[in-house]
Amino acid sequence: MIIRKFDSRAELDFYAAQYFVDTITTKPTATLGLATGSTPIGIYEKMVERYRSGEVSFAQITTFNLDEYVGLQPENEQSYAYFMKHHLFGHIDLPADRAFLPNGMATDLAAECSRYDAMLAAQPIDVQLLGIGHNGHIGFNEPDRTLHGGTHVVGLKRETLEANARFFASMDEVPKQAITMGVGSILKAKTIMLVGKGADKAEIMKQALTGPITTDCPASLLQTHANVLVLLDQEAGRYL
Ligand code: F6R
Repeated sequence: MIIRKFDSRAELDFYAAQYFVDTITTKPTATLGLATGSTPIGIYEKMVERYRSGEVSFAQITTFNLDEYVGLQPENEQSYAYFMKHHLFGHIDLPADRAFLPNGMATDLAAECSRYDAMLAAQPIDVQLLGIGHNGHIGFNEPDRTLHGGTHVVGLKRETLEANARFFASMDEVPKQAITMGVGSILKAKTIMLVGKGADKAEIMKQALTGPITTDCPASLLQTHANVLVLLDQEAGRYL
């Protein structure tokens, strides 16, 4: 595991974007695993800048997102499909038919999970970008007595539903389920880039990277992976 700390978020974002640019330059058909949330936004901004300046083309890559809500149309502003279009896909030359997210509108969710796993098996992820939740979740893999290997449907916890409610007109509209890649699928990526920003991530980063490997902290399983690159700002890295 390599841990790098940056003086500013801008430097971290630049480094991460450069890493992706280098990956794609070396292997134009690379497969990238992508995340949503606040953590990657600056990285995506820098990737878009590099595309606009003509330094990189995404035309031949394939991407897989970690997760998506069940029951939200891709046009819904709260969907992860919308997030990706807004922050990255809508600004680069990645063909829409090679940018994959789990289909939260699928009528048969179990079949959708199997389909996603089959695609992941056929196109293994070269670099998987990850953020981390305050409780150590990665994707929607929350702390639990057991974890799932492959892509699966998760019921969202009450805290998550309540936190999400502010984005919706009523509590009824808040998605109750999501589809997420499993910890096993994440660990199959050749390289994992775990990014942490902000003082509120300092404690969980220390626990995940130096504490016991336990399903109580799903990110701690990253300690078992041979090729993890951890990028932190000073605040998130203060205990490491
Ligand atoms: C997003 C995802 C989540 C986030 C995590 C951190 O696709 O899978 O695990 O990475 O919740 O979110 P932020 O970056 O908003 O702190």
